[in-house]
Amino acid sequence: MPTASDIKRPASKAARSSSGWIVPAKVIVFMAALYPLARLVFLGVTDGLGANPIEFITRSTGLWTLVYLCITLAITPARRLTGANALLRFRRMLGLYAFFYAALHFTTYLWFDKWFDVAAIVKDIGKRPFITVGFAAFVLLIPLAVTSPKAMVKKLGRRWQTLHRAIYAIATLVILHFWWMKAGKHDLTLPKIYGAIVVALLGWRLIVWLRSKSARG
Ligand code: HEM
Repeated sequence: MPTASDIKRPASKAARSSSGWIVPAKVIVFMAALYPLARLVFLGVTDGLGANPIEFITRSTGLWTLVYLCITLAITPARRLTGANALLRFRRMLGLYAFFYAALHFTTYLWFDKWFDVAAIVKDIGKRPFITVGFAAFVLLIPLAVTSPKAMVKKLGRRWQTLHRAIYAIATLVILHFWWMKAGKHDLTLPKIYGAIVVALLGWRLIVWLRSKSARG
């Protein structure tokens, strides 16, 4: 669970000057995180998206959304286990990248799969369970993206932490989305791998929370 120490506090002058590498590191991470989009654009202009470009883009953006969600969820355990507090400075950007790729994934579906046919989309969301849970995950991601700016963290205080716990439900829904989609295709290798990663990341938080609860008596 996010704790009070996970919320960024204004750094002291000394801390700011000793972390001058943060800005270049953020620029590098920002550029590197654009790789999946750059790859799609490159493949698009070089005719490399295969026989079904829409399916290729949907699958690629879906998988990268999941990758960024897992990386974002891994920041807190990595920080606690290594003591590298600076990792926290990259969490918001990576979370926003998860939202960015989810928005591309959803837009590809809305636009090129359904041609903005609202009736067909509503029918699909109600009929296919993997679409229902994917849609629920995307809707839940929106308030997290909207409340990600520092000013919102400050304004919402502890409510920000409570709201951002929705990330655990989102990760679970996304694994269900992936699992159901691939079960229909009898290919569960990747959903099992990502499912295990999400179980480990959420399980770690549960253990930390149970320990701190029992320590408090
Ligand atoms: C946080 C939100 C979401 C995540 C992380 C996500 C993730 C994924 C993943 C990992 C895949 C499988 C990629 C592969 O085959 O390797 C996928 C496929 C797909 N997702 Fe999502 N998804 C999300 C939301 C949505 C939403 C909102 C919709 C539409 C309402 C949607 C529609 C689809 C479709 C149509 C496919 C491809 C199915 C196929 O190729 O047969 N997803 N998604």
